[in-house]
Order: sequence, then C-alpha cells, then structure tokens
Amino acid sequence: MKITVIHGQSHKGSTYHIARMLTDRLGGEVTEFMLPRDFSSYCCGCINCFEDETKCPHYANLSPITKALDEADVIILASPTYVLHATGSMKNLLDHYGWRFMVHRPEEKMFSKQAVVISTAAGAGMKGAIKDMSDSLLFWGVPKIYKYGAAVFSTDWEGVAPGMKRKIEKSMDKLADKIYKTQGQVKVGIKTKGLFHAVRTLRVFLGKDSCTEADMRLWMKKGWIDKNRPWKKVSN
Ligand SMILES: Cc1cc2nc3c(=O)[nH]c(=O)nc-3n(C[C@H](O)[C@H](O)[C@H](O)COP(=O)(O)O)c2cc1C
Repeated sequence: MKITVIHGQSHKGSTYHIARMLTDRLGGEVTEFMLPRDFSSYCCGCINCFEDETKCPHYANLSPITKALDEADVIILASPTYVLHATGSMKNLLDHYGWRFMVHRPEEKMFSKQAVVISTAAGAGMKGAIKDMSDSLLFWGVPKIYKYGAAVFSTDWEGVAPGMKRKIEKSMDKLADKIYKTQGQVKVGIKTKGLFHAVRTLRVFLGKDSCTEADMRLWMKKGWIDKNRPWKKVSN
C-alpha cells in the first residue's frame, strides 16, 4: 500500500503524531511532505494552470508532491487548526491544485483512492479545518474520505492527556482496519458521481463556454463527454 502524507505544518506536534499513528498501523510505503518546509511558494493567481499546469511558476517544485499524490493508494492530509481553519501552508498547497478540480481536469487515478483528513485543535474549530481539506479531495474525485478531528486541549503532543492518547490510538486502530478492508475495492459513491455528472452536463450544453480549451481537450480525449467515466472505461 502506498501512502502519501501532507502535513500542513513543519513541526512534529499532536497532528503529526496522530498521522504517524495511522501510517504505523497501515505499514506500506510512506512518502511525507511537511509544509511550508517542502513547498512554500504562494499561488500568485496568474491563472496559467487552468490552461496548462506546466506553466505554473511553481510547477517544478510542486511536481514531486503531485507525483506522490497520483501514485498513492491512500492520501493523508493532516493540519492543525489555526483560527478555525487549516493552516495557511496547507491551504496554499491546495490552491495550487485548482486545475485538478472535476470542473477542470481531474486525474483519473483519484477516483479509486482512499483519503484521510486529520486535524487537531486546542478546543474547537477542527470542523472548518477538516472541510478546507476534504473539499479539495472531494473535488479532485477521491471517492472515500475519512475525517478525524480531535480537540486535544493542549498546544503540544507532550501535554495531551494519556487518556486522550489512548482514545486516539483506538480510533486509529479502527480507521486503519477500515482502510485495509476497503483497499482495492473503493466504490465511487453518489456524491462523486453527482458532481461529475453536473460538470459533464455543463460540458454537453455549454461546450467550450464551460471551460478552458485544455479542459475540453482532456474531456474529449478521455471520452467523458461520451460514455467513459473516470471510474469506468467503456470505449476507446
Ligand atoms: C495560529 C494558531 C491558531 C490557532 N487557532 C486555534 C483555533 O482556532 N481553535 C483551537 O481550538 N485551537 C487553535 N490553536 C491551537 C492548535 O490548533 C492546537 O494546539 C493544535 O492541537 C496544534 O497542533 P500541533 O501540535 O500539531 O501543532 C491555534 C494555534 C495557533 C498556533
């Protein structure tokens, strides 16, 4: 099992340790990126990526992360909660993948993956942080997204109460078990299919007015306007 973890912070606090607990239980081949350590360029809003992602000024730096995300069976996005949301570093990375949204040029491989979103907060706000990350995964086409938020009542892992750590360990046991059982048989649910079909309807009725030329080229090439789906190929 290939696992790619993106940490929305560069230090090893509570969020890191929870993500680590999960990867330890899953085993397999783990590739990790810490932000901003491994990617710190801000999206400058040039819009180039929507026509051609290789024209993003940060394309070269982003490529190892894109490759690892594409190759993973399981993607883990883990971020502490900062002011009720994911960290700016995590949001900034996700901004760089706007072109990968279903409404533009989704990567077919995403439609068979599992993903986990993890956030910790001292008290509250994990929900917003989790949504920041899970929205991208959903719009990338990932069909199975597990969400885990923990109010750890501490600002570092050392300060987290032993009882809380045991509770988190049990949750990670259960989650790892679920991921194992689902591996290789991820089903594409109604939400992902619904989103895809909504975009496809736009393509059919509005044609090139609904997207960029590059988006349309990909949709035509893949046969998604016709009968193929990113999760099911029926014709060449
Ligand atoms: C800039 C900043 C903003 C924060 N905002 C919140 C918040 O909105 N709600 C909350 O409960 N904790 C907040 N915290 C506390 C962290 O979310 C909490 O300590 C978290 O568990 C830290 O995770 P880490 O150990 O992985 O860094 C904030 C911390 C920082 C540094």
